Amino acid sequence: MATSNAVPQPLQDRVAIVTGASRGIGRAIALHLSSLGAKVVINYASNSAQAETVAAQINTGSTVRAVTFQADISDPDQVKSLFDAAESAFSSSIHIFVNSAGVLDSKYPPIANTTIDDFDQTFSVNARGAFLCCREAANRIKRGGGGRIICLTTSLVASLKPGYAAYTASKAAVEAMVKILAKELKGTGITANAVAPGPVATEMFFAGKTEEAVKRAVVECPLGRLGETEDVAPVVGFLASDAGEWVNGQIIRANGGYV
Ligand SMILES: NC(=O)c1ccc[n+]([C@@H]2O[C@H](COP(=O)([O-])OP(=O)(O)OC[C@H]3O[C@@H](n4cnc5c(N)ncnc54)[C@H](OP(=O)(O)O)[C@@H]3O)[C@@H](O)[C@H]2O)c1
Repeated sequence: MATSNAVPQPLQDRVAIVTGASRGIGRAIALHLSSLGAKVVINYASNSAQAETVAAQINTGSTVRAVTFQADISDPDQVKSLFDAAESAFSSSIHIFVNSAGVLDSKYPPIANTTIDDFDQTFSVNARGAFLCCREAANRIKRGGGGRIICLTTSLVASLKPGYAAYTASKAAVEAMVKILAKELKGTGITANAVAPGPVATEMFFAGKTEEAVKRAVVECPLGRLGETEDVAPVVGFLASDAGEWVNGQIIRANGGYV
């Protein structure tokens, strides 16, 4: 009888939800978690075509390993539906939740010129959305080992740059919540962490920036380049794996040394 020498993959048979996975960092995270063996729910807000393309990149074999689901993470009912969809798509509880969905005001206003609408929109997605997702995840992720909650924040919480006040404050709120969440989840085996990238070459980063501003970000980085989405995804992959269990309640800055 033929025997298989295949080594089980680190995230084999685990189900992951990745919000904001239609593009950018979330997309790279979804692809990476899938490469580690996870089944993935690709969440998006409006770009269904791009989300479907990510799923198609994963679903190359005979079994479905990725599904897409539209949900606005700032809406509690839609967040609940996202978790329902993940459980029913793979007939399994959820092991890994990654919140990568986020927005940035590409006008980069100083506080003196930040409108209430822009402030509210930033907090609605970045802080309220993260809260709603973390709340759902805290109640529904599998207990007893392998449970992971990972939120994308930003190294701006450390570098504190002018023009990013509402955005940075919204992510600072998430970093505080994640640290508390890790303690509140004592006894569940679920870890909660944040990954805080520096500048990463995505639509969000380039939106509204001059060539000079882009160059400045390159010069400020000791490694002399912008981050790529593939620089960040493996950090999330490590935290999601069993090997990452001892990292809990932490903010992991992945930024090439820029701060
Ligand atoms: N890029 C950077 O330099 C950088 C640096 C530090 C931290 N970050 C953080 O990393 C995360 C990913 O950033 P990125 O650069 O990949 O951004 P991006 O390229 O602009 O992608 C944003 C993603 O979030 C989704 N999204 C936006 N609002 C949503 C909502 N209300 N509900 C559900 N999904 C929503 C978008 O979906 P649609 O495609 O459907 O619109 C898209 O998939 C964000 O949290 C960001 O703050 C980014």
